[in-house]
Amino acid sequence: MEYLKIIRTEVSRKSGIDYSNLGFGKFFSDHQFVVDYDNGAWGDPRIEPYGPMAIEPANCTLHYGQTIFEGMKAYRSAKGGVNLFRPSMNAKRMNNSARAVCIPEIDEELFVDGIRELIRVDHSFIPNERGHSLYLRPFAFGTGNFLGVTASSQYRFMVITSPVASYYAEGLNPVRIKVDEEHIRAVRGGLGQAKTAANYAASLYAGMQAKKEGFAQVLFLEAVTRNFVDEIGAMNIMFVIDGELITPPLTQGSILPGVTRDSVLQLGRHWGLKVSERSIGIDEIAEAHRAGKLQEAFGTGTAAVISPVGEFVHRGDSMVINNRQIGPIAQKFYDTITGIQYGELDDPFGWVETIDIEESVSA
Ligand code: COI
Repeated sequence: MEYLKIIRTEVSRKSGIDYSNLGFGKFFSDHQFVVDYDNGAWGDPRIEPYGPMAIEPANCTLHYGQTIFEGMKAYRSAKGGVNLFRPSMNAKRMNNSARAVCIPEIDEELFVDGIRELIRVDHSFIPNERGHSLYLRPFAFGTGNFLGVTASSQYRFMVITSPVASYYAEGLNPVRIKVDEEHIRAVRGGLGQAKTAANYAASLYAGMQAKKEGFAQVLFLEAVTRNFVDEIGAMNIMFVIDGELITPPLTQGSILPGVTRDSVLQLGRHWGLKVSERSIGIDEIAEAHRAGKLQEAFGTGTAAVISPVGEFVHRGDSMVINNRQIGPIAQKFYDTITGIQYGELDDPFGWVETIDIEESVSA
């Protein structure tokens, strides 16, 4: 990277990280990647110590939420080096989200090269344990200071990294999900297909209520029909009904185009499964459950990878799935995707990019 300035920290945060109790997104590594946008262009990037930023009270993002983000992971590869999984898909999705909230697009090369350089600086933070990884959080937000409702003319793009274990405390154990008919996460014509703060803010109240009732998360329904399923707040959702793998289509208008979602669909087709991207109602799911045909359900996402659902509760009716055990199809997706990510399995689709750490450190 040509103009990259690197300022290294003098005090490492490493000793403050409890690698035996990582949880998700609680600890951060030493450095952050930063680029500012002003006068119509992104400037020179820098890597600097992770730490607080001065923000004026009139910062437009605090008021109007002009902000987007991505979720990615870096894995220690069994073959040596560090693996990234389909990073250009995240770069493209970041720009789709950017367009949705009027943030200037970020050059794909800047996005991926910045991440590579940051990993080279902080690779020692990547956990060794299988299943653990360094979560990467690229994000961009308006840095203008004003109160009129308009797009900012200044922005910041950053990447921070966090050593993580499982997203859910349950890990791969099936979770209980509440089907919420009352609260809506996103609506066609809105921002549901973008990875922007508003969608997550919209999911918080319903998620908090569900947690109080003993659920791990909420399954949101599509706003107009209140029947078609949409997403679990932080993941896409998949069902296996009578041998058919079904997930809501991106054309539903409020579905995030998940990287794990796409990988599962590609793998499913590759294995010869019947794969359908189609709208599916909670009525169809309940009917399939009654008929004993609802074999599996699972969430897909970068943070959680595959998160099996052990039970849905809809209008007080319980649908227990596969005796609250992970099903064979979810297990096979989990094993295959993580096997590819950790460099243990062949990568027939060319999804993995390896960063050669030794070479770069001595360079
Ligand atoms: C991810 O799966 O990476 C996400 O972005 C979901 C969540 C942690 C917000």
